[in-house]
Amino acid sequence: MCGIVGYIGEKDAYPILINGLKRLEYRGYDSAGVAIIGNETKIFKKKGKVSELEKLVKNKDVSGVIGIGHTRWATHGEPNDVNAHPHTSQNNKFTVIHNGIIENYGRLKRKLEDRGYKFKSQTDTEVLANLIEYIYIKGNGEIDAEHAVRLALSKVIGAYGIVIISKDEPDKLIAARKGSPLVIGIGEGEYYIASDATPIIEHTDSVIYLNNDNVAIIKKDQLTLKTIGNDELKPLIQKLTMDIGSIEKNGYEHFMLKEIFEQPKSILDTFRGRVAADLSEIRLGGLFEVMPKLEKAKRIIIIACGTSWHAGLVAEYLIETLARVPVEVEYGSEFRYRKPIIYEDDVVIAISQSGETADTLAAINIAKEAGATVLGICNVVGASIPRETHAGVYTHAGPEIGVASTKAFTAQVTVLTMIAIILGKNNNTISDDEYTSLIKELTDVPKKVEEILKSDPIIKKISELYKDATNFLYLGRGYLFPVALEGALKLKEISYIHAEGYPAAEMKHGPIALIDENMPVVVIATQDNSYEKIVSNIQEVKARNGKVIAIVTEGDTVIKSMADHVIEVPKSHEAIAPLLTVVPLQLLSYHIAVMRDCNVDQPRNLAKSVTVE
Ligand code: AGP
Ligand code: GLU
Repeated sequence: MCGIVGYIGEKDAYPILINGLKRLEYRGYDSAGVAIIGNETKIFKKKGKVSELEKLVKNKDVSGVIGIGHTRWATHGEPNDVNAHPHTSQNNKFTVIHNGIIENYGRLKRKLEDRGYKFKSQTDTEVLANLIEYIYIKGNGEIDAEHAVRLALSKVIGAYGIVIISKDEPDKLIAARKGSPLVIGIGEGEYYIASDATPIIEHTDSVIYLNNDNVAIIKKDQLTLKTIGNDELKPLIQKLTMDIGSIEKNGYEHFMLKEIFEQPKSILDTFRGRVAADLSEIRLGGLFEVMPKLEKAKRIIIIACGTSWHAGLVAEYLIETLARVPVEVEYGSEFRYRKPIIYEDDVVIAISQSGETADTLAAINIAKEAGATVLGICNVVGASIPRETHAGVYTHAGPEIGVASTKAFTAQVTVLTMIAIILGKNNNTISDDEYTSLIKELTDVPKKVEEILKSDPIIKKISELYKDATNFLYLGRGYLFPVALEGALKLKEISYIHAEGYPAAEMKHGPIALIDENMPVVVIATQDNSYEKIVSNIQEVKARNGKVIAIVTEGDTVIKSMADHVIEVPKSHEAIAPLLTVVPLQLLSYHIAVMRDCNVDQPRNLAKSVTVE
């Protein structure tokens, strides 16, 4: 999720930490903090930008040669000074900074509370700090800090990149990684730790990338690498070759491309901790209180803008098909002014990556005033929309820097798919077998997206052929009609080529007049119950010399024999196909925009969050 830095050596730690956190600012965050070991461990932490932390620290004693720093992207507990990292354990034995999500933090927290632990924050991280301390104190001097950390981590389910200071062993830092990256830079009599190489490269080019289940015990002149199971490992020292600019994007040319390629992980993070390990159940804790209202809802109204509105359209198909509940999808800007009819037993779902979109916020307030139950699906913990709604679900996609929304869209659709599956089960409109097979299909999405991303070179070649087109048409049916709209929006907002999405059957009611040899037509045509119909639509386009780029189920030879280009995606249930078929469209728009020398991450006239009408 966000940013970690650490230093141990002979230099003043604070300047290294604060500059390191600034290097990580591109990752997006909501609060920041540092801990420095002097004659005691000094902790400074603040909601807001790193500059707010600097103001807090001004004229304070920040001396010390060992320290850790953190920029937070909240997942548990809204952004504020208390929830900011570092977190100390109850008896101040351990100070922890953490990137990631501890899925079983609730159960661990209850166990610690039963043993007298009290919590200052709402974070999952503080649970880890107290778990380490509890194990350490229970060890009664028989186990050292590193052993307590390893024992605690063996009880943790989830993702973490952590760095820990021990009060009783102040001459070392303990770092551990599972799922959230950590890099260690090797200096002369000093070590640097960070989430990526950006804060390290100006100090040293020798690094060790921690692997999952690695624990590093770092003194200023000695590093020991182990597994959580206490097996010693030989560190693999590598040389950094990238320049700082490219590292900020993990080697990708643009944040948008990085975020497209992050989707296997971001989709996994979205359902992490919400799908039972044996795939027998989906649990959305944020909806627990309002589930009875959702189940009784005669109507669900979805409100959103832009890409989030497209996610809402996918949800209309998902919820109506799987749960048989009527769904209406509304633009926030239209809903807020058209004097909508809203009933008290309506459930409204507001979808927003930023949680700050003015039109969506205004629509929420209208729905609340009318007495409806209003839920939020948002990617930013503590943003306005989660604060304004009665309940909700965070998408946990991590910061989305590129203005064109990609991983946030697939995260939103993942949450909406989980809601539809739960509702279908609770309404008895899907069988137990369908319930479990849909859960399995959903959890297979990350690796299927990994497969699709391997087609990037093919998609890049296709982009080369059509980068100078002046118009594009995107066609899809059923679940894939909203994907056609999303593909068209992606292309127009970053490449400035006019593009329209249409239900494929709608072509004969007008758009077919546009088809000629200069009109590329992207058809999303994976195998589902309208497959034969979409094959006919492709034939209609070809009969008018249109150029067809088809997204097909892998192994499809029928469309391959008629389309100009095919991009294959793995077979899936039709309800899961939106999550797969949108990825090639994201890449197509990205490559065309790059080939047209457009500013992909900050397209002209656009903002990442439209906080005005
Ligand atoms: C999508 O690529 C655009 N950046 C835009 O349409 C965006 O989806 C819309 O402004 C809604 O933003 P939100 O999800 O933050 O509410
Ligand atoms: N889950 C932790 C929290 O919410 C860490 C979030 C992060 O990766 O920044 O504080």
